Amino acid sequence: MDNKNGFFRVPCEQDSDRVSEAEIADGLNTRLFGKAGYYYFEETGSTNHEAALLAEQQAPEGTVVIANHQTRGKGRNQRSWFSPAGGGIYLSLILRPAIPPTGAPKLSLLAAVAAAETLISLTKLEVLIKWPNDLLVRGKKIAGILAEMSGDAHAVNHVIVGIGINVNTAPGSFPGDIRDNATSVLAETGAPCQRSRVVRALLEHLEFYYSLFLTEGFERILSRWKELSRIKGREIQVDGSAGTLSGTVVGVDEEGALLLKDDAGVIHRILSGDLILPPQTEAE
Ligand code: BTN
Repeated sequence: MDNKNGFFRVPCEQDSDRVSEAEIADGLNTRLFGKAGYYYFEETGSTNHEAALLAEQQAPEGTVVIANHQTRGKGRNQRSWFSPAGGGIYLSLILRPAIPPTGAPKLSLLAAVAAAETLISLTKLEVLIKWPNDLLVRGKKIAGILAEMSGDAHAVNHVIVGIGINVNTAPGSFPGDIRDNATSVLAETGAPCQRSRVVRALLEHLEFYYSLFLTEGFERILSRWKELSRIKGREIQVDGSAGTLSGTVVGVDEEGALLLKDDAGVIHRILSGDLILPPQTEAE
């Protein structure tokens, strides 16, 4: 904690709120992430799109693309991501793991754990993961992850891990269709938060978990993901490509797929979809 003007300050309180390279490099404790390449846009369509272009031009692993404002922020399942200027963190990271494409979903779970740990360490908010990789506070979405892979049937060429975190987004500014279900650090703590601190902590947590993944595998990350998701045993619905399935969550397998037992006792393995929690438990 800083001691400024005689007052102790909460870890993410604000001085200036820029996230360009100079602000992030100062005190960034990573080996590669954010140092292999750092591209800052005052405004762009989508940082995932910019990062994909850079990856096609052989930008190295650890390259980061960040924007102050996205005009066409992309969410999962063809949705958009509300990305007002100065409101949130809109960050994309290029990864080049030597893994088969079936392993790629693990990276978005890994990113969810890293983003959750970032927010917990800076804000002390109770952050939970909603499968596969939404971050919730009091049942409302505070962050989301969109991982996009490029490769062939045998190997990953690159994965763009896109992370959006609602940091200083004013609660009343969320569009009507998401206003009841979205929140921000500002809305939850009542105080603005310096985004550069969040970016640095996020890159440090991402690099820590990614190194763990490459050296030890996915087991410890998955077990932290499970602690943060508290999903086992819950009655849920999942909207997926095959329609809507209802049942009880019996687990998440080693690839991050959801295991759902339906009323007939059949266990379904679901790799992607939208999870719907019953309204009475959504805010647990
Ligand atoms: C979701 O729908 O939950 C995923 C949202 C991902 C948003 C981030 S913001 C940075 C990156 N660029 C994008 O266009 N999308 C991701």
